[in-house]
Amino acid sequence: PPSAMGGEDVLREELGSLHGIPLYKCFVEGWPQVETFQARPDDLLIATYPKSGTTWLSEILDMIYHDGDVEKCRRDAIFNRVPFLEMKAPRLPSGVEQLEKTPSPRLVKTHLPVHLLPASFQDKGCKVIYMARNPKDVVVSYYYFYQMAKMHPDPGTLNEFLETFMAGKVAYGSWYDHVKGWWEKKQEKQLLYLFYEDMKKDPQREVQKILQFLGKEVAEGTVARILHHTSFQEMKKNPAANYETMPTALMDHSLSPFLRKGISGDWKNHFTVAQNERFDQHYQEHMAGSDLHFQME
Ligand code: A3P
Repeated sequence: PPSAMGGEDVLREELGSLHGIPLYKCFVEGWPQVETFQARPDDLLIATYPKSGTTWLSEILDMIYHDGDVEKCRRDAIFNRVPFLEMKAPRLPSGVEQLEKTPSPRLVKTHLPVHLLPASFQDKGCKVIYMARNPKDVVVSYYYFYQMAKMHPDPGTLNEFLETFMAGKVAYGSWYDHVKGWWEKKQEKQLLYLFYEDMKKDPQREVQKILQFLGKEVAEGTVARILHHTSFQEMKKNPAANYETMPTALMDHSLSPFLRKGISGDWKNHFTVAQNERFDQHYQEHMAGSDLHFQME
C-alpha cells in the first residue's frame, strides 16, 4: 500500500495522553518499552521541550563525540545518530529499538518532562544536558512545526495555537512545567542546564561549558570546526542535519523548513500587541516565584 513507509495513518490525528501529558498516540502505545528502558552509565541524555534547539545541541554533541570530524558526522541523519528515546511510529524501528543497536557511548534525545524520565537514567547516574528556549520563540517555532510535521493535529490560527500552548494542550504539555521541572534538578552535578539564547549569543562559551561538563579536552581548531559545522547556515544545507531525508508525508519542508529561521526574537514578527500582553500576563503568573529567567530576544 502507498502508506507503507510514510505512516499516513497517523497524520493529523488528535493527541493521546501519557500520564496526563498530551502526546502522539503511537508514543503512548510504545510507552511500556520506554518506561523500562535500560540506560548505560555512559549514556548522555539530551533533554529539551520541543523546538528549543534539540537538533542543534545534538549536532554539537555528535561533533564533540567525533572530535570535530565532519565526515563522520555525515554518516547518517541526525535522528538516527541521536535516537529519540520515546519515538514510536508504524513500521519504523522505535527509539528504544534504535538505541539497543547503538554502540556506546550513546547520545539519547528526549522531550520527556523530568517526572516521566525512565528511572534507569537516574539509577545509572547518566549525565544530562537540558536546553531551554524562551517560550515566545518556542511557540512560534512550534506553530510552524505543527504545520510541516503532520503527526500533529491542525494547529489552527496562531491565535488559537497560542491559547492551546498556554493551556499546555500541545504535544509534551506545559512548557512552564517542563522548564521548571528540569530546572529543579540543576543543583545535581550530573545536569547541565543551557539556554538557546546563550548559545546564539556566544556559542564558543557554551561549547566550552559542554566540554568542561563532559570532562573532554579538544584542540582549539576543533572547537572552531564544531562551531562552523553547527552554525545555522551549515546545518540548513546539511542533509544529515536538516531532516530533509524524512518522508515528505511526515514532514513537508515546502510548508516550512525544519531549520526555519534560527534566531532569537522572531516572535516579534508574529505576535500582535494584544497577544504579547496576554502572553506576558500568563507568563508572569506561571513563572512567579521561580528563579528561572528567560531572555526574550
Ligand atoms: P526556528 O523555528 O525558530 O527557526 P528543535 O531541534 O528542538 O526542534 O528546534 C528547532 C529550532 O531550532 C528551529 O527554530 C530551528 O531553526 C532551530 N535551529 C536548529 N539548528 C540551529 C542552529 N544551528 N542555530 C540556530 N538555531 C537552530
